[in-house]
Amino acid sequence: MSQPKTIYLKEYEAPAYHILSTELTFEIFEEHTLVINRMAIKRRGDVPVPLLLDGDDLELLCVKVDDVKIPTDAYERNEETLTLFDPGAEATVQVVTKIYPDKNTALEGLYRSGGIYCTQCEPHGFRRITYFIDRPDNMSVFTVKVIAEQSVCPVLLSNGNLEEEGSFPDGRHYALWKDPFPKPSYLFALVAGDLGRISDNFTTAEGNEVALHIYVDKGNEPRADHAMRSLKASMRWDEETYGRSYDLSVYNIVAVDSFNMGAMENKGLNIFNSHYVLADEETATDADFLGIESVIAHEYFHNWTGNRITCRDWFQLTLKEGLTVFRDQSFSADMQSEVVQRIRDVDMLRERQFPEDAGPTAHPIKPEQYIEINNFYTATVYEKGSEVIRMLHTILGEKAWRAAMDLYFETFDGQAVRTEDFLWAMQQHSPIDLAQFALWYSQERTPSLCAEHSYDPASGRLTLKLEQIVPDAVDGRKQQPYCMPLRLALLGHAGEELPLQLEGDTGAQPLLERGILLITRDEESFTFGGLASEPALSLNRHFGAPVVMEYPQEDVMNLMRFDSDGFVRYEAAQSFARSTLEAMMRGEAVSPQFLESFKHILEDESLDLQFKAQLLSLPTVTMLMQTQQTVDVHAILEASDALRREIAVACEATMRHLYALLHRPAHMGLEAESIGARALKNRLLGYLMAQQDAESIDSAMAQYEESHTMTDRLAALQLLHHGAPEAAEAPMRDFYERYSGDMLVMTKYFSVIASSPQPDTLSRVRAAMEDEVFNIKVPNLVRSLIGSFARNPYHFHAYDGSGYAFVAEQIIALDAINPMIAAGLSGAFKTYNRLNAHSRAQMRDALEKVQAHRGISKNVYEIVGKILA
Ligand code: ARG
Ligand code: ZN
Repeated sequence: MSQPKTIYLKEYEAPAYHILSTELTFEIFEEHTLVINRMAIKRRGDVPVPLLLDGDDLELLCVKVDDVKIPTDAYERNEETLTLFDPGAEATVQVVTKIYPDKNTALEGLYRSGGIYCTQCEPHGFRRITYFIDRPDNMSVFTVKVIAEQSVCPVLLSNGNLEEEGSFPDGRHYALWKDPFPKPSYLFALVAGDLGRISDNFTTAEGNEVALHIYVDKGNEPRADHAMRSLKASMRWDEETYGRSYDLSVYNIVAVDSFNMGAMENKGLNIFNSHYVLADEETATDADFLGIESVIAHEYFHNWTGNRITCRDWFQLTLKEGLTVFRDQSFSADMQSEVVQRIRDVDMLRERQFPEDAGPTAHPIKPEQYIEINNFYTATVYEKGSEVIRMLHTILGEKAWRAAMDLYFETFDGQAVRTEDFLWAMQQHSPIDLAQFALWYSQERTPSLCAEHSYDPASGRLTLKLEQIVPDAVDGRKQQPYCMPLRLALLGHAGEELPLQLEGDTGAQPLLERGILLITRDEESFTFGGLASEPALSLNRHFGAPVVMEYPQEDVMNLMRFDSDGFVRYEAAQSFARSTLEAMMRGEAVSPQFLESFKHILEDESLDLQFKAQLLSLPTVTMLMQTQQTVDVHAILEASDALRREIAVACEATMRHLYALLHRPAHMGLEAESIGARALKNRLLGYLMAQQDAESIDSAMAQYEESHTMTDRLAALQLLHHGAPEAAEAPMRDFYERYSGDMLVMTKYFSVIASSPQPDTLSRVRAAMEDEVFNIKVPNLVRSLIGSFARNPYHFHAYDGSGYAFVAEQIIALDAINPMIAAGLSGAFKTYNRLNAHSRAQMRDALEKVQAHRGISKNVYEIVGKILA
């Protein structure tokens, strides 16, 4: 590989030509596919300039301009481009390429997944199909003809509406699709194969009929019902919440087994990882059902935030992704419980995005440079991007937010725009100037907010001092304080919210009426008066600002008990558990107050069950690692295991009683009540199993055998395999025998193996890789086995370095197959800088082997380079 080149936002230039319309013909044969691509091009300026077309790994058969073959000295080709020196101001350029979908293991461009031809074009896959101006500011109207053997590929799909179909005498047939909406090439899609489908329909608010189809492998049709319900709910929700309707007469979704990511929002033809489509109670967990609902919604919502209004260039990725994640999170909150959903989203942010933002690959939600754009489909661009949108929503308030979104849709429909354009629309309806707020787009790393308060009983005043700590950027650049909304409340003795009487000049606090302080400086102080006694402080309610909030511990027990903001209750519980664990790591005993507060929640019968399960959870290892200067994984694991046991001992009787109450077959189905019962029951079983006693093992065995849902079966299996491996042997065998024919369920089996604390885990993972069910070319299997192992704190960080060496070895093997998946796995090493010298040396060894490997992709090169820098 030649030295990979860095691409900069500041070097953006509009393309010299536009491709007004694109006519594609795909001739699919068993060994290869021919792609005939006719483009109507138009030069933007008056002076002759070359036409640069992107291409990657293409066999070029022919180039014509206005239907005449051009001489070979009229164009030039290298690894990445085809340059036509002077095709003229307006012309029809035709290129014919030959591609090999069966050999495409990178899963970008046109490839074959379990016999099905499908595409993934975002961000740079289209150039692996044909030569094109493969960038989102080039929007073109696509007409696509697909021709294939009728018996192999009875189903032929592309974007837009079906215009025509027919067959040829030789057994081949064709379909002609036309998408009336101009779109960038990254939204192009094609599917051909032998698929089953389920169908339904939807009538839009304007009265248009839309045919809905979900295509799946034959036999899996009944498992697509939940996806279909989710699609219809999403369509209705976007009409009711944003006044946005669907705009074509057909909406197709196709599920494929081999897919690099979750799903893709191609216009009118979404392609999905089958994990986010297929589910029934026998094979999918509650989390899987919720995941389907949210990803189906996410891709559907992209039709307006992504497709109708797209990105000018890939630095703007968060324009569509942050906004669409915010929309899917709001949808899930409306479908389920708001607080439960908020806790899930924040957990995910802190579990995945905070470590990224604290590590060597930290970047702003709008990066300014990249080597490989695929490395920027990150938790930062997506999840932190969504938090930034959420803050705008908070600042504007519901009504102004909707007006600003309407303005955004009206103004930029049909265009490829920048985050600045989005902020312009927000500014038109914002109560505050958003100039400082815009720093959230250009700065990286998570800021902290430290709160201190003092109460003066004589005057009835509470003074709150806030200090904003803004870390330097990864490269050492100083960064500025942020503008952020901080939702707060002062709570009286029974948890009631007291009026916020801010003293002094309140002019700079236009949001105070809504219980929100606007923070803009690194140090601020606020005084609230009119208080009869000292209140409890409820800060950063709803987690409205995505910061590390360090707040006074003295209110934690009260907040845990009675805060009217569910998120703060959860936060207080987590914070109390964290300080308890930290004390244990210093050698102290478990605080009796903590156990008492825990019991208090456990015995509270008024709590929603899912919420209660969340309140009773302990901070994860990743969360605990974030507060350590030098990470000591083994100390964290030891303390966590010990606390789990102590909790079990202290609460055993109540837990067993409650477990028995919840473990009833009546709790089936997907209503919040049943999901909650399962979540809580399995949380309790988790604590009980920490004792590794016969009674708990019996309960887990019985649950495994009696379970009617995958949620219960899998939870029991995992607890047994991780806590009582001998007892787990029979259920492990049973599970394998039941499900070895079902790849999606086998991913769960592999995760159970790879995430175990048991000493033989690495050898079991190696053995599983040899199992006939495992296939290194299928990303879901790789993520479930190798990816889970890389997240297994017990074994990834093994003292002898075997975990690092194994993962490095797998990165090298995978890189030759699928660079995106290899780069994803490399992210496991992000903690490098924060480990002790012993682990660091071992990690460096492993990473240097990866770096030194010949032919390493730019995907892996960029990530490993940043970690070792
Ligand atoms: N736009 C897709 C989504 O978020 C993700 C596609 C990412 N693809 C990739 N090759 N990085 O819904
Ligand atoms: Zn998306």
